[in-house]
Amino acid sequence: MVNLATKYMGLTLKNPVIVSSSSLTHSAEGVKRCADAGAGAVVLKSLFEEQIRADVKELSDKSIPSFHTEELDYLRQMGMNISADDYLKIIEESKEAVDIPVIASLNCVTSDRWMEFAKYIEAVGADAIELNIAVMPKQFDEDPEKIEKHIINIISGVKKNVNIPLAVKLGPYFTSMPRMAKSARKAGASALVLFNRFYQTDIDINTLAHTSKNKFSSPLEMSHSLRWISLLYQQIGCPLVGNTGIHDGEGAIKMLLVGARAVEICSTLFIHGLGQIQVILDEIERWMKEKYYGSIDDFNGIMSQKNSKNPEYFERQQYIRALVGID
Ligand SMILES: Cc1cc2nc3c(=O)[nH]c(=O)nc-3n(C[C@H](O)[C@H](O)[C@H](O)COP(=O)(O)O)c2cc1C
Repeated sequence: MVNLATKYMGLTLKNPVIVSSSSLTHSAEGVKRCADAGAGAVVLKSLFEEQIRADVKELSDKSIPSFHTEELDYLRQMGMNISADDYLKIIEESKEAVDIPVIASLNCVTSDRWMEFAKYIEAVGADAIELNIAVMPKQFDEDPEKIEKHIINIISGVKKNVNIPLAVKLGPYFTSMPRMAKSARKAGASALVLFNRFYQTDIDINTLAHTSKNKFSSPLEMSHSLRWISLLYQQIGCPLVGNTGIHDGEGAIKMLLVGARAVEICSTLFIHGLGQIQVILDEIERWMKEKYYGSIDDFNGIMSQKNSKNPEYFERQQYIRALVGID
């Protein structure tokens, strides 16, 4: 008998497949569809910091200088003009509709008063919060340490307001990922989701328009997450979750082998439909039976760098080996 249950930030998941934040989880109905399809947990569509700030502005407080009315227009154009109140309602309704963990998601760029909103998310019953920190450094003279400090301030600022677990979804572009991961943990992250996938920019050379062609990931994109989860496993003091490029059971198994406690999936569900959740679960279960593993714990992290007989394989030697026969 195979047991797919896993523990993640103190939450018990009946299986390690989490539906990642997207329009699939933008309503209680969407969340219910994901749960009915077999998901172990869901991360709700993000509430953007700008939405909270817009709401705060509209409700009463005129003293937030960093708010611009264009932000609201922008959000409306993106179809994201649900209010912060609506978001709380979605959490409440989702919690009523399903019995799997419901993780709220905040997409943010500044450390500001909006962070207090996390309290309300906790109050209406979200099991955890996932923070998607979408800082894009573009100043030529900005000190990297200052940027990292800014990210850390956001994490600690939100953490200060809640007692529920706080997952932090990071992008892959840091000079020192180990340091960033450790600092995020120290600032209050209960888990790290590695990695966020930024919108891919592209250009249409016929219309000379900016486009966003690759909305969905490909399985080839998972290797960066695989490497870093493998390297950071049991080094940071909090669980890690794999994200980006996990499209099938094989991808999920690889992530669990290098030490991810769970995987977040999104693109594959847009491409194949929600039935892909069960396909992935069946593949994991079949593989576990073949290998005589009774539980996720039996193989979780066995191919991390820490547990590897060849720890150097994850570092420079891997690169040199990969070139043999090509160069
Ligand atoms: C249509 C769409 C909407 C998304 N919206 C959000 C969002 O609101 N917040 C967020 O943190 N990530 C969002 N994401 C990113 C996904 O949650 C996920 O991190 C990313 O797609 C990588 O996972 P994947 O390779 O399984 O797709 C979105 C992705 C897609 C395709």
